[in-house]
Amino acid sequence: MGKRILIIGASGQIGNELTMYLRNMYGNQKVIASDIREASDAVMESGPFEILDAMDYNAIEKIVTRYEITDVYLMAAMLSATAEKFPMKGWDLNMTSLFNVLNLAKENKIKKIFWPSSIAVFGPTTPKTNTAQHTVMEPSTVYGISKQTGERWCEYYHNRYGVDVRSIRYPGLISYKTLPGGGTTDYAVDIYHKALKDKSYSCFLGAKTTLPMMFMDDAIRATTKIMLAAPQEIKIRNAYNLAALSFNPEELAISIQKHIPDFTIEYEPDFRQAIADSWPASIDDSQARKDWGWKHEVSLDQMTEVMIDNLK
Ligand code: SER
Repeated sequence: MGKRILIIGASGQIGNELTMYLRNMYGNQKVIASDIREASDAVMESGPFEILDAMDYNAIEKIVTRYEITDVYLMAAMLSATAEKFPMKGWDLNMTSLFNVLNLAKENKIKKIFWPSSIAVFGPTTPKTNTAQHTVMEPSTVYGISKQTGERWCEYYHNRYGVDVRSIRYPGLISYKTLPGGGTTDYAVDIYHKALKDKSYSCFLGAKTTLPMMFMDDAIRATTKIMLAAPQEIKIRNAYNLAALSFNPEELAISIQKHIPDFTIEYEPDFRQAIADSWPASIDDSQARKDWGWKHEVSLDQMTEVMIDNLK
């Protein structure tokens, strides 16, 4: 029997595009989309969809059995800014959903897991530039604590129970198909919408706040690439550093001004500034490049061009 995939969180910023990409790769009927709410028309109309609560082990198990699922991509999570508002809820969702999927694999009900980690695993004591794969990790946000803890559990389930779980530390992700929600890096998506609509943007991070970022196409490529790698190529079973771009709001505004010359930006940092300040400015992802051949393709100006063309 071939591969059958379940995406949990198919209505979200990554899940939506990942579902369509995997359906294209493996066939529409082989990729079951699920979320607590309905997904985009593209996802709803192109293949199977199930309403599913990532916190409900029995509900996930039922779908896994019914569709004979082999691989699960767990894309449901509460992101950094929202989790600061609802700490216990964020912790609960992020951890319970991960344990549900890890335990399904431990019970041999599924074969392979993708679970995303984040640059949020790093904290204020982490070296800021070219942050290494192995370094100080003292996350100071609820989201970061949940991702750091999740990484430890992934490695534990791999070592102790042989679970094939693979993970990458996504940087901020920029896309035009689905809006992100509740993240600290969301400004880098917002800004394009406002640039086209109002020719101005009020940014919730300061001008010089440099963060690691990536265009969604690269993120999807990385996700499918790490899942296709042979098990022995995956030398890190917590999560791989992954990098493409590093820029700050001022630099992003300059890139946008090449298309919209009268675009203006002002800065009104809010509580998200402290979150951003606790994260690295750039990431050393040489281990991912070496172990499973990761390579990013999209530059800042290429991304801006695609974003503006598609949002117009
Ligand atoms: N983009 C995410 C956030 O801002 C980081 O993983 O929360």
